[in-house]
Amino acid sequence: MIFLRQYCAIFVWSVFGIPIECLVQVEIACPGFVDTRRGDGALGFSAPAFEAAVEESNHRYSGILNFSAVFLSEEERTQALDGAVLPGDACVELVAHWYYTQRRFPSDGVSIIMGTGQADWTRLHELAANWNTLYFQTVSYVRSGYRLPAAPVLSTGPVSLLAVGQTFVNLLQFYRWRTVYLVSDLDSPGVFNGLARQLDDLSGADSFNFTVFRRVIKARSLERSREPYGVLLDDFCKISRVMVFFGRANFVRRMLIDAWTRNMTNGEYVYLSWGSADARRHDKFGNFSWSYDDHHDEIARRAFGSLLVIQQLEPVRNERSLSALASLLAQLRQRVRKLFNISYTEREQPREEVVASYASIILLAQNLASTSIYRHDAPQLAQRFLNRTFSGEFDDIYFDGSGMRRRQTAVLHLSERAEQLEMFLLESTDGNSELQEVRNISRDWPGNSWPPRNEPLCGYNNERAVCQKLVLGSFIAELTVSCLGCVLLVGTFTGHRLLRIHRIQYETGWVLEHQHLRIRPILLTSACHLSSASANIHGEASVCDTHAEA
Ligand SMILES: *[C@@H]1O[C@H](CO)[C@@H](O)[C@H](O)[C@H]1NC(C)=O
Ligand SMILES: *[C@@H]1O[C@H](CO)[C@@H](O)[C@H](O)[C@H]1NC(C)=O
Ligand SMILES: *[C@@H]1O[C@H](CO)[C@@H](O)[C@H](O)[C@H]1NC(C)=O
Ligand SMILES: *[C@@H]1O[C@H](CO)[C@@H](O)[C@H](O)[C@H]1NC(C)=O
Ligand SMILES: *[C@@H]1O[C@H](CO)[C@@H](O)[C@H](O)[C@H]1NC(C)=O
Ligand SMILES: *[C@@H]1O[C@H](CO)[C@@H](O)[C@H](O)[C@H]1NC(C)=O
Ligand SMILES: *[C@@H]1O[C@H](CO)[C@@H](O)[C@H](O)[C@H]1NC(C)=O
Repeated sequence: MIFLRQYCAIFVWSVFGIPIECLVQVEIACPGFVDTRRGDGALGFSAPAFEAAVEESNHRYSGILNFSAVFLSEEERTQALDGAVLPGDACVELVAHWYYTQRRFPSDGVSIIMGTGQADWTRLHELAANWNTLYFQTVSYVRSGYRLPAAPVLSTGPVSLLAVGQTFVNLLQFYRWRTVYLVSDLDSPGVFNGLARQLDDLSGADSFNFTVFRRVIKARSLERSREPYGVLLDDFCKISRVMVFFGRANFVRRMLIDAWTRNMTNGEYVYLSWGSADARRHDKFGNFSWSYDDHHDEIARRAFGSLLVIQQLEPVRNERSLSALASLLAQLRQRVRKLFNISYTEREQPREEVVASYASIILLAQNLASTSIYRHDAPQLAQRFLNRTFSGEFDDIYFDGSGMRRRQTAVLHLSERAEQLEMFLLESTDGNSELQEVRNISRDWPGNSWPPRNEPLCGYNNERAVCQKLVLGSFIAELTVSCLGCVLLVGTFTGHRLLRIHRIQYETGWVLEHQHLRIRPILLTSACHLSSASANIHGEASVCDTHAEA
């Protein structure tokens, strides 16, 4: 440190020929909202962490760097404006106001923007680019739409929708699953909907030629009926074999139970979902366990064999670092009382988000202290973060080449032996994010047909040329069954017509409401039983093939 300080002084001496005080003032603006009920991205959670990190950095680099952070709270500004509602992008207004009127060292200080919840990434990035300052985003960053040359956004948040979405794309590519049935549930936390949008965007931009059928549901109103996901599954089995379900774990479990009763967990179908590795801390994402101690447990256990879950691995912390973290978190809960006169419990405190906020300023300090020439040049400064791992007190943070933090991500599958989800693919974090197999699940996969095909061998309607001979051979047998089925069919025909019209109307992006379900489950059940009877005769045919054309 003494060395650095001398180096700095010598540098100033030799360039300007004048000895000046070499203390660099670093001013950090943290826009956001304080109210912790609005989300994990609240300043109520991150502000005390920023404050503690500023104090820690000032202590570590005293005499070289002097940090200060200001919290630009939406609520305070609204009060100052006498309750007048701020425009949608309040953060942008607040930051601009700070930049032009509130900074104490506007000419020679270093300015930094530290985005929290509800930041408008693109507009903040645009401002940062214009001012040549660095912009960090500590929660929920997707991707800035700002395209002119600028320092990248450095995103340090623990859950990156973009990174998780990319893992889904990698997984789909890995097994050549191109036809994706994407379900997002509006009754689950917002992160699921964000993930669905992200995957939709990524798959659209990918050269792999995905076909995505996106459906929006409201799981809570669906689950009031007897077979809540019947209509959804019926729609799914006609157009795809790969379902990505973004919703709480308990909804996924219920959907799988319905799938089991329709023989849609026979290994031909694969269901993908996302969850948190730490269910205890993330109640709102649900518990990815088949065992809920209800009468569905046994079916759920078998149905779970068709499920793959993507999870980010929790950081491994030793005893010492855990106790240091616990005391930091307790100290931050003390601080927030003084800062905003609010309080919350340890359970309510989003641990990883808080650690990320703290680490962002510690990293910044580390980097600013180790360079003296690039402090005012944001693109150069940002380069020093890319493709690097920073070992922190509580966590290692790795930034990829685009400035986004990557965490190790795994794909899990139910292990027959252990009866719980276990990792079988691991995504490397060294920049190319390849999936590596760490366990062979061929034996555990239902029907021993791992990996399932993107499409049924005979096509969704048994129409493929390869299967025509087979169809002809069993034609007579089928005829007999069909005749038996005729009586039933006539009965269901009218209902089917209605259903079909309805489905065309809602081809994309429909919302399944409870009232739509009143007549259908009964109709569909009888239709599917019939078709599974003929599927048995075909041998090759999939369960719900014939009834689509009935
Ligand atoms: C450090 O920054 C704070 C906040 O801007 C300021 O009040 C203080 O005077 C600075 N300290 C030094 C030694 O410049
Ligand atoms: C994707 O589709 C386009 C045209 O639809 C085709 O030219 C291209 O080869 C396809 N790419 C792959 C990887 O299949
Ligand atoms: C999740 O379910 C498993 C199995 O029932 C149970 O052991 C575990 O405690 C549950 N976790 C939470 C947070 O409820
Ligand atoms: C802090 O909040 C409590 C209620 O939440 C209130 O009674 C008290 O007056 C507040 N204190 C200050 C200093 O604003
Ligand atoms: C980061 O790594 C990627 C891929 O390995 C590379 O293309 C890029 O140039 C690297 N960026 C920096 C700043 O080193
Ligand atoms: C996984 O195991 C199956 C048999 O259990 C075997 O046929 C297959 O080749 C294995 N896959 C890999 C990648 O080792
Ligand atoms: C379920 O599907 C499998 C594979 O297609 C088939 O072999 C089996 O007979 C089906 N079971 C029922 C009850 O339809």
